Amino acid sequence: MPQEKLLLIPGPTPVHPRIIHSLSQPTVSHVSPTMVQELKEALVMLKQIVFCERGEAIIVAGAGTLAMEMALLNTVKQGERFLVLSQGYFGQRMSDIGQCFGIDSDILQSPWGEVVPPEQLEEQLAGRDYTAVVSTHVDTATGACAPVKAYADVLKDSGCLYLIDGVCATGGIEERMTDWGVDVILTAAQKCFGTPPGLAVLVFSEAAMAKRQSMTSIPAYYSDVLRWLPIMKDPAKYFSTPCVNEIRAFTEACRIMLEEGMEERFLRHQKIAEAFRSALHALGFRSFTQDDCLAETLSVMSYPPGVEDAAFRSTLADNGVIVAGGLGEVAGRVFRMGHMGNLSFSQVEFAVAALEDTLSSLGHAFEARAGVTAAKNALTA
Ligand SMILES: Cc1ncc(COP(=O)(O)O)c(C=O)c1O
Repeated sequence: MPQEKLLLIPGPTPVHPRIIHSLSQPTVSHVSPTMVQELKEALVMLKQIVFCERGEAIIVAGAGTLAMEMALLNTVKQGERFLVLSQGYFGQRMSDIGQCFGIDSDILQSPWGEVVPPEQLEEQLAGRDYTAVVSTHVDTATGACAPVKAYADVLKDSGCLYLIDGVCATGGIEERMTDWGVDVILTAAQKCFGTPPGLAVLVFSEAAMAKRQSMTSIPAYYSDVLRWLPIMKDPAKYFSTPCVNEIRAFTEACRIMLEEGMEERFLRHQKIAEAFRSALHALGFRSFTQDDCLAETLSVMSYPPGVEDAAFRSTLADNGVIVAGGLGEVAGRVFRMGHMGNLSFSQVEFAVAALEDTLSSLGHAFEARAGVTAAKNALTA
């Protein structure tokens, strides 16, 4: 077996041994009592993870993009308009999905590394009639975390449905669906849940479900939540074969999350983010993302002078840690480090030591053990 490297890209994330164990159980019938029990349990836990008191959870084979499509097509129809709050790369995708299905949108796009201010949302709503407003919570290209609670406050009593793309946030950063008045949270298995890729994951509020019920038909078959709802209520029924092993793994992932406790989990994400960032700053990197919107699930870091992207990432990989390159306009100028899911403090310390070894072998000068010390201080604060 090749030596496993620590996967610190912004998803997929490292998979906990308990989740690997669930995944590797013998495949059972999708309508067996075991699967019925596992899926039912996952749906209950999923609603707890996003603090949804009333609504419907839906888990289907797919990925985050399918979840985006499902969220949109089941809440907004042709002739209606939606607004996208885009913090970087993934907002445009939501608008593109709408366009494919003849659903028009407007986009409020922040500069990369920043977020759309809630005041701008307020101004945009004045005199306009949107059926839904969609925000990316954490943009995986820029590391920017949107003020989703402040958007919720603006949207209260607006009559708009509020959809959050939580692919890089849900389960790692607080999202309180019922309290905040969020109508759909969409996400995927491979980020903060720490499960291998393969599932589209959604929670619909009662209002979002009522909107779907009010639409006689939608331009979708597999993505129609009304086809899935009977299966979620009684998983012994058949619509389309679910990926049973992945669902078992996801159920185990949810158990791990709730055993840790969501408040504790959010706190661990905050500490780990702080540890990585203070270590990287001590080693000469700068955050690409503005200070007031740093995400707790990933960091996007600009290189110090003299450190070259390809050499840095390949040497770091040789030292046991995989990180991702920059996307789009910042490719080659930044690297992206995911720190979400079930990452432990000892994995953080290992990664920071590997960063130091990498920079030393590339000839970049820094104060001895500056990164390791900064990370330790943040973890024990
Ligand atoms: C914020 C966000 N939304 C949507 C997606 C799309 O998810 P997927 O790649 O699973 O289709 C991603 C993927 O990284 C993402 O980060």
